[in-house]
Amino acid sequence: MMCLLALSFASAGQTAPQIVIETKRTALVLTVNNGKKLLQSYLGKKQERSSYELMKGGREVYLTAGMDNQFEPAIRMVHADGNPSLDLRYVTHNTVDSAGMQHSTIVLKDPVYPVEVKLHYRSYYNEDVLKCWSEIVHQEKKPVMLTQYASALLHFNATEYWLTQFHGDWAREMNVVEEKLNNGIKSIESKLGTRTNFYQTQVFFLSLNDRSTETTGEVIAGTLAWTGNFKFAFEVDQRNGLRVISGMNPFASEYFLKQGEVFTTPEFIYTYSSEGKGFASRNIHRWARNFAVLDGNQPRMTLLNNWEATHTDFTEKRLVELFDEAKKLGVDLFLLDDGWFGNKYPRNDDKNGLGDWQEDKSKLPSGIGYLVKEAVNREIKFGIWLEPEMVNPKSELYNLHPEWILKLPNREENYGRNQLVLDLINPVVQDFVFRTVDDLMMKNPGIAFIKWDCNRSMTNAFSPFLKDKQTHLYIDYTKALYKIMERIRTKYPHLPIMLCAGGGGRTDYGALKYFTEFWPSDNTDALERIYIQWGYSYFFPANTISAHVTSMGKQQSLKFRTDVAMMGKMGYDIRVNNFTADELLFSSEAVKTYKRISPVIWLGDLYRLISPYDENRMLLMYTNQNKDKAILFNYHLHTRRKDFFRPVQLQGLVPEKKYRVREINLMPGVKSVMPDHDKVYTGEYLMTTGLNLTPGRVNPLSSNIMEIIAE
Ligand code: DGJ
Repeated sequence: MMCLLALSFASAGQTAPQIVIETKRTALVLTVNNGKKLLQSYLGKKQERSSYELMKGGREVYLTAGMDNQFEPAIRMVHADGNPSLDLRYVTHNTVDSAGMQHSTIVLKDPVYPVEVKLHYRSYYNEDVLKCWSEIVHQEKKPVMLTQYASALLHFNATEYWLTQFHGDWAREMNVVEEKLNNGIKSIESKLGTRTNFYQTQVFFLSLNDRSTETTGEVIAGTLAWTGNFKFAFEVDQRNGLRVISGMNPFASEYFLKQGEVFTTPEFIYTYSSEGKGFASRNIHRWARNFAVLDGNQPRMTLLNNWEATHTDFTEKRLVELFDEAKKLGVDLFLLDDGWFGNKYPRNDDKNGLGDWQEDKSKLPSGIGYLVKEAVNREIKFGIWLEPEMVNPKSELYNLHPEWILKLPNREENYGRNQLVLDLINPVVQDFVFRTVDDLMMKNPGIAFIKWDCNRSMTNAFSPFLKDKQTHLYIDYTKALYKIMERIRTKYPHLPIMLCAGGGGRTDYGALKYFTEFWPSDNTDALERIYIQWGYSYFFPANTISAHVTSMGKQQSLKFRTDVAMMGKMGYDIRVNNFTADELLFSSEAVKTYKRISPVIWLGDLYRLISPYDENRMLLMYTNQNKDKAILFNYHLHTRRKDFFRPVQLQGLVPEKKYRVREINLMPGVKSVMPDHDKVYTGEYLMTTGLNLTPGRVNPLSSNIMEIIAE
């Protein structure tokens, strides 16, 4: 039996408490040694309880700094008297079980200094997901300084470690890169503050002993629920042991903790799979829908957005025409993007008006209320764009409240997209941001959707509010953002809100509990989106990944662009009136088809069949929970004349069941040339022999959607 860490230093007479945290298939076993140190004795496949009793040793769960530990610590504290050491010993623990969840709290204390650390572990039994975080508190008379404060430290002991990370940039998010870890520390981190995932996203796979595939190998999938600076440190030591430390990035963030104040770290979420990355993704998706994403199991709305179609150049009349276009398409909602506000500094480009959240009287003389009414008259819903954390220097807000802005004294202002970040840490600014949303909603209760944007990261960051506590800035900013979102959610618990940060600059489970979906990238070229959406699919369920049909990548057929959007949460951002009659017919049928099949895409299990990184095509499928419906997406990329494509074995079906395979979403008048179209096969055949999805010569950038239904 493989295990991730099962060290056995049985020491005679030990009556140490043992804490077993289990899911359906995984166990984490913690033991206390004679010195009252809390050790990780095991993490891996679930075993008989009696096996755990044999595991008496391990490595320290929450390594401290300043005493005998010479490796990267989970926590480092400098006491009020200047002593830079911490010694944490087990005191007590308790475990509470409730409906499919187990929550263990372990209390550790320093025997000399009045410092207490509570380690929290929550397991989601059916989803096979574990979550942990810590709470740090002290009773010293003066503040202590925290310089490191991990959410989790996990130990591994394998022959090899393979790390998969997801890096990117604007318009090229979530590139998948895998490497073998060698001795030393490899870190994946962000120091960007807002728009924190601009270059790196806080998700990773760690494969043990060998590379994992979609269906084989031992792998951990981990992510941090934190919408701010994060850091994962992977340290391979001299004996090939690996420590993975996950948490907020301590960079420039020494935290001065007052007596009695509780410092809570964000949650580190992970799952263990002995069947490769596909299984791990499905665990995370299920957990996300059930527990982490706002209304994760509820339907989403299809929409027409106007950003790529008009940018900030529109009039009231033009918008109402667009409502008609939305109606023709048959989507649920029209989403008005950037450019609707600002009077002294009208928002006609990205240099003006940010922060002045009043309708632009020349563009929208009848106001937002009129637009909502006109949309409702057409039986479509109305949504609106906001970027409430930011300000342009050319704005009334900037003139009125220069003290509300993050900027360094004695230095020139430094802009990103011509804008600055508001000092959310200031409660008055929190009120302003809350009121921006609340006033809009109170005046226009018909607003049914918000897109919350955030178009710059932090530079030259200095909070006028924090005064001499500038090292709290990065952490307190994110906490302030959550406070605002809590207020918004208390008043508007189910209003769908899309999380956006100039593309995928904010995609994490700390934020997603307040948001229903996110905008993965400003790059909506369908070929590019295949890679981007593939990347996100490892950690995020399809109903959170917004994907719009646009005119970017015009050389691609509308069918290809539509099929790519359909594998996520589909919407449009295109001039519908420029469609040919066939294109309009195809698109309005596609919206209907999507509404029919989206429950399988949104709530089903994802199986990635062929990676675009491996072949000149990409294939994935979703299967519903009863395994009687599946939707398969088949995309050919820059295929060449002599590319050889083998038949594709499906996954996630019931071998004994019979399924009819039909190609759907064809252009009007086009008949399927798929050899298996409208044929019936057993699940066993489909998963063993597979389907030929590339009959004859295929056109580059072409695609098919197959619906597979049990008879
Ligand atoms: C960046 C977003 O990613 C776009 O979709 C759009 O909303 C623009 N901002 C508007 O400024």
